[in-house]
Amino acid sequence: MPTYDPEGTVPQSEALFARAKAVTPGGVNSPVRAFNAVGGTPRFIREAKGAWITDVDGNSYVDLICSWGPMLLGHAHPEVLAAVNAAVARGTSYGTPTQPEVELAEEIVKRAPVEEVRFVSSGTEATMSAIRLARGFTGRDVVIKFAGNYHGHVDALLAAAGSGLATFAVPGTPGVPASSTELTLVLPYNDREAVAAAFAEHGDRIACLITEAAPGNMGVVPPEPGFNAFLAQVCQSHGALFISDEVMTGFRASAQGYWGLDGKNEGWTPDLVTFGKVMGGGFPAAAFGGRADVMRRLSPEGPVYQAGTLSGNPIATTAGLTTLRLATDDVYAHIATAAETVKSAISVAFTEAGLAHQIQSAGTMFSVFLTDAPVRNFVEASTTDSAAYAALFHAMLDAGVYLPPSAYECWFLSSAHDDRAIQQILDALPAAARAAAAVQGA
Ligand SMILES: Cc1ncc(COP(=O)(O)O)c(C=O)c1O
Repeated sequence: MPTYDPEGTVPQSEALFARAKAVTPGGVNSPVRAFNAVGGTPRFIREAKGAWITDVDGNSYVDLICSWGPMLLGHAHPEVLAAVNAAVARGTSYGTPTQPEVELAEEIVKRAPVEEVRFVSSGTEATMSAIRLARGFTGRDVVIKFAGNYHGHVDALLAAAGSGLATFAVPGTPGVPASSTELTLVLPYNDREAVAAAFAEHGDRIACLITEAAPGNMGVVPPEPGFNAFLAQVCQSHGALFISDEVMTGFRASAQGYWGLDGKNEGWTPDLVTFGKVMGGGFPAAAFGGRADVMRRLSPEGPVYQAGTLSGNPIATTAGLTTLRLATDDVYAHIATAAETVKSAISVAFTEAGLAHQIQSAGTMFSVFLTDAPVRNFVEASTTDSAAYAALFHAMLDAGVYLPPSAYECWFLSSAHDDRAIQQILDALPAAARAAAAVQGA
């Protein structure tokens, strides 16, 4: 426990947040953690075990953030900890090749539609590197992405749509020069006509199209049936690469990621795939992979440069490898059942409270939009009632359930969400739904 408030007069999370704000912008190291979207003070977490996180004031919460996806097995899984502790005892980084990297790469290649992978340390690096590789491979420079899809804070992808459908993007944030987004096209999600128009106009310049395999970063907005297959096909017919971003969905939506649910049925295969989150087992590890002929264009085998001091770090790859080996069908079945139970309870509680809502899923991932029509793209996602969500969030937090502090995020479960944890969620929902309904439309 921190000892900065011996009198205990100020909640320790508040005291830590004040200190944090003095030395870190907004007091956090990633914006969504700050509670700006819901108001209030983020809880500073002291420890976590299974489905539970405990803050520095000693309050415990059922965790529905799960570190934004990685903790598929819950926190502090004993076998992951044992493997990591043993790895740490052998040294933490060598800057030379190691066995866990090879084994994790083999495990990924076994499950996902990739022939080779390269490890990096974050999802941002994975998407940035995949795009560079696609450009190097095709000799073209234009990139297509979809509004509301998040691929990390890569300059070229922090872009907002230009004035017309096939016009180039503008920077999505100060600090990104116009020159970084002038080769990016931002299209509406689930819109085949927009994709066809962009390829018709710029087809011979398009290096790649990148899409979340099933978007989870505007809340969960699944691709309409056949949409990913259409994207793969249109890319192929124009000589562009199809990059499926599975940083969130990979080894989470199903044992094989979203591709295992959708690609197998609809017959699409991406040229490149990006991974992160679950495959790092709670450590900073990510990867990109794909067709061997494309991956072999990477340095040192090919001319496209890419590197990283801590890439394939032995602790991170040990955590990821242990996690993936433990991620059996039973794990996914447990999470799927837990998700169904929670979704049914949400539906009942929200309906009884008169709270307009949509529950949307992609495999075992789901999220809730507080709006009265299904959400297929970013414009529709933006109709969710953020004020009502803030009321829902705080009522759930007060009842010991830590939801994502933003209306535009996926709710994550783990195999450690047992009956007790699920019951705590179910018990909290009715009153929270009433609190949100009182705000909705007000
Ligand atoms: C689909 C997707 N791609 C890329 C990223 C970026 O990953 P990171 O935060 O590890 O840079 C994220 C992060 O949430 C993501 O969800």
